Amino acid sequence: MDKPYPPVEYAEYLKLDRLLSSQSPKSLEYGRPAHDEMLFVIVHQAYELWFKQILHELDSVMALFRADSVDERSIGTAQSRLARVTEIQKLLVDQLRVLETMTPLDFLDFRDFLVPASGFQSLQFRLIETKLGLRAEHRALASSERQAALQEATTEPSLFALVERWLERTPFLETPGFPFWSSYGRAVDAMLAGDRATIESNPTLSDDDRRREIAALDRTAASFAAVLDEGTHSRLVAEGQRRLSWRATKAALFIHLYRDQPILHLPFQFLTTLVEVDELLAAWRYRHALMVHRMVGTKIGTGGSSGHQYLLGTVERNKIFSDLYNLSTFLISRSSLPVLPPEMERRLGFHYPRESP
Ligand code: HEM
Repeated sequence: MDKPYPPVEYAEYLKLDRLLSSQSPKSLEYGRPAHDEMLFVIVHQAYELWFKQILHELDSVMALFRADSVDERSIGTAQSRLARVTEIQKLLVDQLRVLETMTPLDFLDFRDFLVPASGFQSLQFRLIETKLGLRAEHRALASSERQAALQEATTEPSLFALVERWLERTPFLETPGFPFWSSYGRAVDAMLAGDRATIESNPTLSDDDRRREIAALDRTAASFAAVLDEGTHSRLVAEGQRRLSWRATKAALFIHLYRDQPILHLPFQFLTTLVEVDELLAAWRYRHALMVHRMVGTKIGTGGSSGHQYLLGTVERNKIFSDLYNLSTFLISRSSLPVLPPEMERRLGFHYPRESP
């Protein structure tokens, strides 16, 4: 017999008393009421609530990937939770539009009361970045308690590190009798030689354009060389041009190239969603930087940074999964892919036992 649960009341369940009495505009406190400050407070609070939900999802995905072996079901669960994060992120980008109904002059009515508070000090935002895998420089978060919480997150493996380990464990990379990487290398050489011939024989290119395009092709060829050679890859990692280990990069590439194989489909979707999370974070950063430019011009931020310029710089600098974006450089067309040996194709497919007549 189920335990009888006491009836629940809406406002009590949602703790609305506390939630709805948590808006205290400073302008009111100082006797200089500024109408738009309520919007400013509520928009920030709504962000923090969504940050909480994102952390809830990230923590659960990280827990799944901490296991020594991650089974298909876990990848499906992780994938759907990350997809939920991306839907929230789209809301977060759009939510700035609500705040932009406040004009720069309206903002000035209360801006000075806020110094030195700033989104810069949002612990949850820093936790999201850090848990995803942004290398933490220790930023001022005001309280030492918050600093300690961030410190704790930096010592546990990030989602980046967990995904890297999971990729490194991917089977199929070195299958006896299937020299995949040498076949792939030959297919890449043929593709690059084709591109070179196209550039060299293109009558519409000026000599300068041709030189530029050949130089770009040489850079692409050097990138491919790093996929095929561990030493070159390690040098790029040491120079900060790559972050993902060689083995993990090869596994991610293999998953992308053979994603039509049933077993690789879910890992492919998962990696794609990771890139989407990263891209939407960059989209939010850029959108927020534009809003800040519009709102305060080139003034410094209340948190003391250079404001708009600082924020713009974070868009590229703070990408976490750049190595996964860059995989597209290494793709070759399906028709040039080395053909999988039948045994391997069987292992990568789903096989149902034949039903007895
Ligand atoms: C009038 C609206 C806003 C203005 C003028 C503004 C301005 C700024 C500025 C200038 C910075 C750079 C740090 C500083 O010097 O303060 C910053 C950082 C930040 N803001 Fe805003 N902001 C606004 C709204 C928001 C909202 C609604 C959020 C949502 C939580 C937010 C979250 C953040 C975060 C997370 C950072 C740190 C970004 C990083 O360091 O990568 N901001 N903001």
